Amino acid sequence: MNWRNWFKPSVKYSIFTLIGVGATLGVVGYFAVQQTLHATSTDEFCMTCHSNHSLKDEVLASAHGNNRAGITVQCQQCHIAQEPFNYLMKKIIVSKDIWGYLTIDGFNTQEWLEENRKEQADLALVYLKKIDSSTCRNCHNNVTHDQPEAMKKMATRMHDMNYAKEKDAQRTCVDCHKGVAHPYPKS
Ligand code: HEC
Ligand code: HEC
Ligand code: HEC
Ligand code: HEC
Repeated sequence: MNWRNWFKPSVKYSIFTLIGVGATLGVVGYFAVQQTLHATSTDEFCMTCHSNHSLKDEVLASAHGNNRAGITVQCQQCHIAQEPFNYLMKKIIVSKDIWGYLTIDGFNTQEWLEENRKEQADLALVYLKKIDSSTCRNCHNNVTHDQPEAMKKMATRMHDMNYAKEKDAQRTCVDCHKGVAHPYPKS
């Protein structure tokens, strides 16, 4: 076949057939991507690389794994923004971890986690601050306004004071709440 034929209008298939095939592939591709994102968002997926880290046990021991409500919060519910755009961006950034997994010496060991916990925790916090703790607010959606009666007075007072401030002066959840799922290192 002559390469020039690639650029000629198709004689065999009408333009409508070609558009139809294109649209079908687009839809199939869209759902394939959705499925992959879903599959890569389970705790099992996260723990494939972090399998020797105590992260999951820490969650289970915290208020986010052991509470009266019987809820175990999943890794991605805190760590990955749910808004489609942010979600995709984070996914793309996480893929740098494949490189890290292959190249960081001793990465998947508890020793590595303990030695690097402060640095890793602060990296995680940079992301959460950037998204204004939106993952926390997805569940705790009555903290910024209409706070529940049952909440501790000390808590409602702090929250009221914070959210009465100008937007720029407000602190975000993780500015005040560190170590809600894993022990946050002092130094
Ligand atoms: C392909 C292997 C791999 C998978 C899968 C993986 N991680 Fe990681 N993760 C890493 C590596 C490697 C690092 C250290 C990155 C570095 O410092 O460059 C890391 C660091 C982190 C950090 C701290 C640093 C930061 O940038 O926030 C968090 C939080 C984290 N992972 C959460 C998760 C969650 C949640 C999942 C599941 C959605 C997950 N990881 C899945 C390999 C992986
Ligand atoms: C999937 C829903 C969900 C997400 C996401 C979530 N939480 Fe929670 N959070 C809970 C539940 C459920 C409890 C336990 C409530 C109880 O025991 O009555 C809780 C408890 C808490 C508490 C009180 C207990 C403690 O550890 O002091 C704080 C503070 C808190 N969450 C902050 C956060 C922050 C900060 C984030 C984001 C990094 C976050 N939460 C993300 C559901 C969630
Ligand atoms: C200015 C600091 C500050 C900010 C910002 C803040 N909190 Fe709090 N929060 C507190 C304090 C102080 C308490 C009471 C002591 C404690 O329980 O840790 C508290 C308590 C809580 C509790 C427990 C309430 C109870 O009765 O057990 C939850 C849940 C909580 N905060 C969630 C959040 C979430 C989600 C955000 C972001 C939307 C947030 N907080 C932002 C300071 C803050
Ligand atoms: C309730 C929200 C929440 C859940 C659930 C959660 N994390 Fe985190 N994670 C955080 C926050 C917030 C930080 C930032 C440091 C801090 O405040 O402790 C963090 C920090 C980390 C770090 C950096 C090292 C460290 O210990 O600070 C890694 C790695 C990590 N998380 C992985 C995971 C994995 C894997 C899961 C699921 C098994 C998970 N997280 C579940 C909120 C959560």
